Amino acid sequence: MGKLDQELLRGGINRRQFLEFCGAMVATLALPARYVPRVAEALTTATRLPLVWLEFQDCAGDTESFLRASQPSIDELLLETISLDYHETLMVAAGAHAGENLWTTIDQYSGKYICIVEGAIPTADGGIYCTVRGRTALSMAQAVCGQARATIAVGSCACDGGIAAAAPNPTGAVGVGEAMPGLSELVCLPGCPANVVNLTATLVYLLTFDEFPSLDQYGRPRFAYGQLIHDQCERRKFYDQGRFVREWGDQGHQRGWCLYKMGCKGPETHHNCPSVLWNQGTSWPVGVGHGCIGCTEPNFWDRHSSLYQAMEDTGSDEDLPASKRGGRGRGRG
Ligand code: SF4
Ligand code: F3S
Repeated sequence: MGKLDQELLRGGINRRQFLEFCGAMVATLALPARYVPRVAEALTTATRLPLVWLEFQDCAGDTESFLRASQPSIDELLLETISLDYHETLMVAAGAHAGENLWTTIDQYSGKYICIVEGAIPTADGGIYCTVRGRTALSMAQAVCGQARATIAVGSCACDGGIAAAAPNPTGAVGVGEAMPGLSELVCLPGCPANVVNLTATLVYLLTFDEFPSLDQYGRPRFAYGQLIHDQCERRKFYDQGRFVREWGDQGHQRGWCLYKMGCKGPETHHNCPSVLWNQGTSWPVGVGHGCIGCTEPNFWDRHSSLYQAMEDTGSDEDLPASKRGGRGRGRG
């Protein structure tokens, strides 16, 4: 029996539930069902994957997303058991002791660990707007990501600066890819916050196939960011019929009609939240009656600052300064 099996049993999760989890991961990754045994085998026999989680200029929403379960979920047990060595917000150690943990992990697993970055990296005035134990976020990211096997940017702040980089961006906040253009491998999981299901699925893919899944031009895994919200939306039939909500609480809203006229950005937003959902599969923003604000697209805070205005009434990328058009992390695809 592998370490993960033991941890799952200790967490009250039986083999059948574990296989259901593997099935859900295979479905999220858009792989054929025949991969379920392979994923299960990889997860139970995988060698340890050290993982370091850095947190910079952000609201900790991605960490909150990671901790969303009221009881330990398989995602959490998986991340904790096979990986999580250092997480500034969650770890018990503090101060100099926490710093020692970080640098020991990096020395011990140089070239083997995965660095997860949450939050933007401020670059103005020598990066002084975010420091950890007296060291700037930029300097820490360079040291830690530079020796990692790969870096995963979680949340929009880490991917392109997010809300910290919204105009006028006084701290010079940027995403990981812009802060460190020489990084060899970078995967971006934007979202405000990112959905932990997609982080787990990315790591499951890595453990199973020893490589990252295919990425788009912004460094986003295609399995999670390959389709428009609009094309997966349960309200799409009403869009096609021209049945729109025109006022919060009106008859159309009560009947679940399309939210396009209320500012929904689903027609230009790529994400799998209509299928993976949030809060342990409970629902998603459009499902509960609020339009998509486009949180997975580059520079969405600036592009969609009129959150409740219909897209036809708002500008698009051309309204942004050239430096802010589409500038997310680098991908292979
Ligand atoms: Fe498209 Fe949004 Fe209408 Fe859904 S609610 S059909 S995503 S415009
Ligand atoms: Fe974000 Fe839109 Fe989904 S706002 S969480 S991509 S519905």
